[in-house]
Amino acid sequence: MTRFEHEPEKNSEGETLRQSLEDYIAFLGDLVSHELEVILPTQWMVPENLQQAMKYSLMAGGKRLRPLLVIIACEALGGSREAALPVAAAIEMVHTYSLIHDDLPAMDNDDYRRGKLTNHKVFGEATAILAGDALLTHAFYSVVQASRKFGVPAESVLSIVEDLAEMAGPRGMVGGQIADMEGEQGLTDLEQLKYIHLHKTGDLIIFSLLAGGRIAGANEHQLEALHKFGTAIGLAFQIQDDILDLVGDEGKLGKKTGSDVKQHKVTYPYFIGLEASREEVKQLTETARNAVLNGGFHDNQRMLEIADYLMARDH
Ligand code: IPE
Ligand code: IPE
Ligand code: MG
Ligand code: MG
Ligand code: MG
Repeated sequence: MTRFEHEPEKNSEGETLRQSLEDYIAFLGDLVSHELEVILPTQWMVPENLQQAMKYSLMAGGKRLRPLLVIIACEALGGSREAALPVAAAIEMVHTYSLIHDDLPAMDNDDYRRGKLTNHKVFGEATAILAGDALLTHAFYSVVQASRKFGVPAESVLSIVEDLAEMAGPRGMVGGQIADMEGEQGLTDLEQLKYIHLHKTGDLIIFSLLAGGRIAGANEHQLEALHKFGTAIGLAFQIQDDILDLVGDEGKLGKKTGSDVKQHKVTYPYFIGLEASREEVKQLTETARNAVLNGGFHDNQRMLEIADYLMARDH
């Protein structure tokens, strides 16, 4: 059994003590990173260069927010953390693929990500594209393992696969990304920007929460609450990303700031200014909190904490 640095402590009765949010996040991040280390079955023959390129971006030190949300939602409903891990790893693979492709010269043309050179800068464009493709495909393999290894009902996994295809694909993240590419200052309006943000970023966040809920056997009412929570924090998360692109610290962010201005992107601060953008993040966090409070969860504390934590994030 691997031991992790941020493992929770036990009291003299052997009961696990509740961790601070920071320790909880760090510990789950370690668990997810460990899961990602061993994601390819060892008996598979996978070209070395491809493996390296996949691993380079997966292990570059992302915040692991989406996997965290899978686990938090699952635990808020009393579900098993272990069973959630393959799905947590899957969404991190899809997210990482989206970043590798997002940074390509044909897209945002960025040189730094997660504090390191972008994938195409190290491995070349062709390998970066293929590493992204491989991560996307392998995510579906990983989702299925929740059922194969941990007995999550096949019917639930079916819904997770369906959601992932919907929310990562043309109606979801990819749809948002193309709208982002086509967005133009002077032509795109705030309503269209909201569509971009809800899809390019919101949908993977919504997916994560729904998937966690599904693993725990959530009912329709609970799924609806998770959906509302995800929609609000997803939009808030991207507005905060826009804000940080203007006023964030490159060292903390691990990516260059000013990318949006350089590329003449439409963003929330572009339309409504910094202060109103910050206010919007606050309001959305409140909406998210209310969704959780009315969601009928077994334990909603971490969900409430993470909403506040994200509002205050600086990276
Ligand atoms: C960056 O996502 C791209 C957006 C969708 C805003 P994150 O801010 O979650 O990036 P990592 O995973 O920590 O690198
Ligand atoms: C990224 O949006 C969304 C996806 C990768 C799907 P951005 O282009 O704003 O993300 P950063 O700022 O490069 O991380
Ligand atoms: Mg982009
Ligand atoms: Mg970008
Ligand atoms: Mg950005």
